[in-house]
Amino acid sequence: MGEMILQAKNICKSYSNGKTQLSVLQDFSLDVEVGEIITIMGQSGSGKSTALNILGTLDHPDSGELILGGKRVHTMEENELAAIRNGDIGFVFQFHHLLPEFTAIENILMPTWINGKEDSKNHALDLIEKMGLSDRKDHFPSQLSGGERSRVAVARALMNQPKLILADEPTGNLDEKNANKLIDLLSEINKDFHQAIVLTTHNPQVARIGHKQFNLENGSLTEKA
Ligand SMILES: Nc1ncnc2c1ncn2[C@@H]1O[C@H](COP(=O)(O)OP(=O)(O)O)[C@@H](O)[C@H]1O
Ligand SMILES: [Mg+2]
Repeated sequence: MGEMILQAKNICKSYSNGKTQLSVLQDFSLDVEVGEIITIMGQSGSGKSTALNILGTLDHPDSGELILGGKRVHTMEENELAAIRNGDIGFVFQFHHLLPEFTAIENILMPTWINGKEDSKNHALDLIEKMGLSDRKDHFPSQLSGGERSRVAVARALMNQPKLILADEPTGNLDEKNANKLIDLLSEINKDFHQAIVLTTHNPQVARIGHKQFNLENGSLTEKA
């Protein structure tokens, strides 16, 4: 067994809408080892985003435990947690959340501004080249196609060389060609940098890149045989 970077144990999460309680995650457990690609397939509303937000410490579970780098998250101070969130985890969201008033390269450099690293420009240029975006680096998000925006978002997630990439339906609004291109890139990145990737999707084609493939149903995961 490889080195464990993230463990979720019996996570439960529900939302209350006034009187009714909606149970979204129920005994959700997942182990993520260094360098592995894990895909989570689930229908819309099955709790994929809720799960990834909790795995990325952007949201709190009602119960259960999250262990990051061998340490229980709920025992960490907020500043320790923020450092892990910014340094060890890269997020790729379905709608990419690029900042419209910044160019592609500026968006990619953004995480390093937060961490105060100065020597990041060359690394950003390398990533831009790897993503096939060299001639688009000074374009604003509105001047990029959906596929290009998604690749900018991946480059941004990679900037701090995180141990773990959390990608929430990254191909969700891409056509098949761009979806395949993004998936190929993520596989390549995983081979080159050995980053672990947890990716959600509702597309079986996309799910196939997982070394381990799970279904999210009734709030918990079952591994595909
Ligand atoms: N903040 C919230 N308050 C209430 N209900 C929510 C909230 N966020 C998500 N939900 C509900 O939880 C369920 C799971 O949502 P989500 O995790 O976004 O699913 P998915 O990403 O698989 O589409 C959905 O029924 C959704 O409506
Ligand atoms: Mg979602």
